[in-house]
Amino acid sequence: MATKLRPIQTIAALTARRSLSTTHRYASASSSPQIFRDVPPLRTYRRSLLLSNRTVGLVPTMGALHDGHLSLARLAAVENTDVFISIYVNPTQFGLNEDLSSYPKTWEADLVALETLDAELAATPGAGRISAVFAPTTKTMYPTLPPDSSLPGKGSFVTITPLANLLEGASRPVFFRGVATICLKLFNICTPERVYFGQKDVQQTAVIRRLAKDFHVDTTVRVGPTQREESGLAMSSRNIYLGTRRRNVARVLSQALRRAEAQYLAGKRTRGDILWPATAHADEVAAAQEELDPGARAKFEVDYISLADPETMEEVEVVDPARGAILSTAMKMLPLEEVAEGEQLGAGDDKIPVRLIDNVILEPAE
Ligand code: PAF
Repeated sequence: MATKLRPIQTIAALTARRSLSTTHRYASASSSPQIFRDVPPLRTYRRSLLLSNRTVGLVPTMGALHDGHLSLARLAAVENTDVFISIYVNPTQFGLNEDLSSYPKTWEADLVALETLDAELAATPGAGRISAVFAPTTKTMYPTLPPDSSLPGKGSFVTITPLANLLEGASRPVFFRGVATICLKLFNICTPERVYFGQKDVQQTAVIRRLAKDFHVDTTVRVGPTQREESGLAMSSRNIYLGTRRRNVARVLSQALRRAEAQYLAGKRTRGDILWPATAHADEVAAAQEELDPGARAKFEVDYISLADPETMEEVEVVDPARGAILSTAMKMLPLEEVAEGEQLGAGDDKIPVRLIDNVILEPAE
C-alpha cells in the first residue's frame, strides 16, 4: 500500500542516495518510513491507515533527535500500529532574541536514527512501526501569514492562559503560544489516536493536556519518562552545546531537585521545607564556580526553582498530598569565559548560552 500512495520519499531512498551505508543493512525501501513534506499526501496516507483499522501515535519533535525522542517513539510503537514522527523547528515558539537560528539541525543523523529504530521495531514481535516522518516547510505550517514571534503579533494563534504565562512562559513569553499553535496544527493534520511528549518538558505536557481538553481534540496525551545522561543531566537537544566543563556543572539542576524531592519523601509538605535544600545547593555550586579561575569555571544563572500544582502549574505554599506537585527548575549555563588548552568543547565552542530545564514529579502520597 505504501508504494501506491506515492510518498514524497522514503528514508531508505534518501539516505541511500547520500551513501549513508549504515542504513542499508536495515530496511528495504518498501518498509522504510516514508517522508512527507506536505499535508495532502499525509492525509491520504492517514485515511488509508484508518480504513485498515490501524492506529497512529504521533511524536512531535524539532529534530536533533536523542534517546529521549527515541524512547517516546518506542512507547508509541508499543501502543499503536503506526508511529508518526514530525520534525519541524517551529519559529513561533522562539522569541525574537532566542536561539532559533542556532537551534541544532541534524536532519541526516535524525533519519539514520529513525531508520535504525524502525529496524529494531521490525524485529520486535507485536511492535508498531515508524511509518511516516512529517517534515513540513514553514509555508506549509503557516499558510496564510509568515510566522510572527512578536507580541501581540499577526497570525492565528492558540493562547492558553494563565498556564502558559507561568514559569517557562514568564521567561519566554511566546513559547507556549507557539507550542500550542503548532501542536494543534500537527494534531489536525495527523489525527493521531495518541500523542507522545517527554516529562522533561513538564509544563509543555500540562499545556498540551489543556489544549486537548479545551479544544476537544480527539487524542490521548501520553507522557514518557525523562531520559538522563549518566551524570543525571536530563537529555535535551540543546545538550550538544555543552562541553565537558559545562556538562559537569549542569548536573546541579537534577541534584537540586533530588534534594527537594527527598524532603517531600521524608514527609515535609510546606514550600519552605521542601525547597530550601535545592536553593542552598544551587547557591553553593554557583559560589564555588565563582571562586575558580575563568579558565576552570562554568557560571550559570538559576531562573526559578518552583513547587507547583501538577495541573495549573501555579505555585503552592503547601503540597496537598492527594494531588502531589511538580518540582521544576530552569537555569542558563553562561558561555565559558576562557577555554583551556585541549579542552573538550561542545558545539559552538561553548560560546552559546544554554537554557536547561528539569523537573521531578512529587507523586500523590495518599
Ligand atoms: O518539545 C518540542 O520539541 C517542541 O516544543 C514541540 C512539541 C515539537 C513543538 O514544536
